[in-house]
Amino acid sequence: MTTALVILAAGKGTRMNSDIPKVLHPIAQVPMLVHAMRAGSVLSPERTVIVTGHGAEAVAKIAQAEDETAQIAVQEEQLGTAHAVAQARDALEGFDGDVVVLYGDTPFLQADTLERMIEARVQNDLVILGFAAADPARYGRLVMNGDTLERIVEFKDASDEERAITFCNSGLLACNAETLMSLIDAVSNDNASGEYYLTDVVEIARSRDLSVTAVACDEAQTLGVNSRADLAAADGVFQAQARAELLDLGVTLMAPETVYLAADTVIGRDTVIEPNVVFGPGVTVESGATIRAFSHLEGCHVSREAIIGPYARLRPGAELAENARIGNFVEIKNAEIAEGAKVNHLSYIGDASVGAGSNIGAGTITCNYDGVMKHKTTIGEGVFIGSNTMLVAPVTVGDGAMTATGTVVTKDVEAEALAVARAKQENKPGYARKLFDMLKAKKARRDKEA
Ligand code: UD1
Ligand code: CA
Repeated sequence: MTTALVILAAGKGTRMNSDIPKVLHPIAQVPMLVHAMRAGSVLSPERTVIVTGHGAEAVAKIAQAEDETAQIAVQEEQLGTAHAVAQARDALEGFDGDVVVLYGDTPFLQADTLERMIEARVQNDLVILGFAAADPARYGRLVMNGDTLERIVEFKDASDEERAITFCNSGLLACNAETLMSLIDAVSNDNASGEYYLTDVVEIARSRDLSVTAVACDEAQTLGVNSRADLAAADGVFQAQARAELLDLGVTLMAPETVYLAADTVIGRDTVIEPNVVFGPGVTVESGATIRAFSHLEGCHVSREAIIGPYARLRPGAELAENARIGNFVEIKNAEIAEGAKVNHLSYIGDASVGAGSNIGAGTITCNYDGVMKHKTTIGEGVFIGSNTMLVAPVTVGDGAMTATGTVVTKDVEAEALAVARAKQENKPGYARKLFDMLKAKKARRDKEA
């Protein structure tokens, strides 16, 4: 059976108190909507339709960056979840497989849950995903009769007896496309909220003698985000899961709860992560590396046995070969650091390549930006860059060359040459003594006057 995803993402998310559409708020640095899209991708959907409303353009942009084939259906007015699904009708034209409806603000859904829904669909016309709620609060209640789901009652419309039910609606469902649209056509807004409830399709389906059932998953998977507190809690859940997975994979986290991961962080076994390390998106660390305390990494690749930090910053395009060393207060951006090369202290290496075994002295800066354009610095193998060297790009330093401490390199340095560009030192005997005496006398006069 082919499937299509319809992801509801039109809501305003009033309780987020934000100018950003709710579904674009990130968990582990990936927008919630993208988490939902990735969860749904296990079904290899033939079509994906995102129903947008609030912040429609921004939402469409993120959705299509994740999947360029995603279709956008705009819901001009948010008249309810059934009305939202109805907006996908044109995008589903000519599709006769199953539709799976997901919410853009429910990021923890797991692959096997969706697979179980699809399996249940074989025997049933309509499948709803439910969960046993620890605190059912304002969720819709699932009214079961054996394995048959008879109807869903929204909290606002429920009797006391129905409110006592703890099996709740996650909002997710699976149904044949044509059947679903015909059920939605019959939904009215005659209820406590005056909204078109998607949940009403259950009772309508039963009145047409269609078979309806509910599949259960654990509550953590249906966790929805409605406020900043929910967002923080959801991020916490994600982090705890991701850290536990890394530990299982053989990564040492010295203080797991202080390591912040992105959804796509990849770390090889026997790598050691010290406390207070932050991973932005797009980081891969191979096996046996060490990331020391208080380092910040994003968009970079760290090879085996490399040692980073403490207090290092690796920015997008930092590509570190095996055994590279990046020390404290060093920033690397869009630069290759070859095998065994060292940048140990207080340096900025940007738009550059550093050859194997080269040593970059403390305080070195690649002056890569002239105020308008960026330029490249190329450093060969076995080079020794003296402390406080300014490399004014574009510039090349050949293999085995050296730069003297404090040199401002503006011209290429050929292989094995020594570049020196600094004022000559002159020592004036006894001058320091004279200067001290003069200054002390000046201070004594000033103190007397005061
Ligand atoms: C809905 C369900 C409820 C379920 C709960 C689970 C209905 C009527 N109720 O309630 O049974 O227990 O989810 O979290 O379906 N949306 C749109 N357009 C709209 C309205 C909503 O796109 O016009 C989107 C929202 O952005 C959100 C999702 O649909 O992603 C759910 O809407 P929401 O208003 O949060 O539904 P609940 O009242 O929580
Ligand atoms: Ca909700």
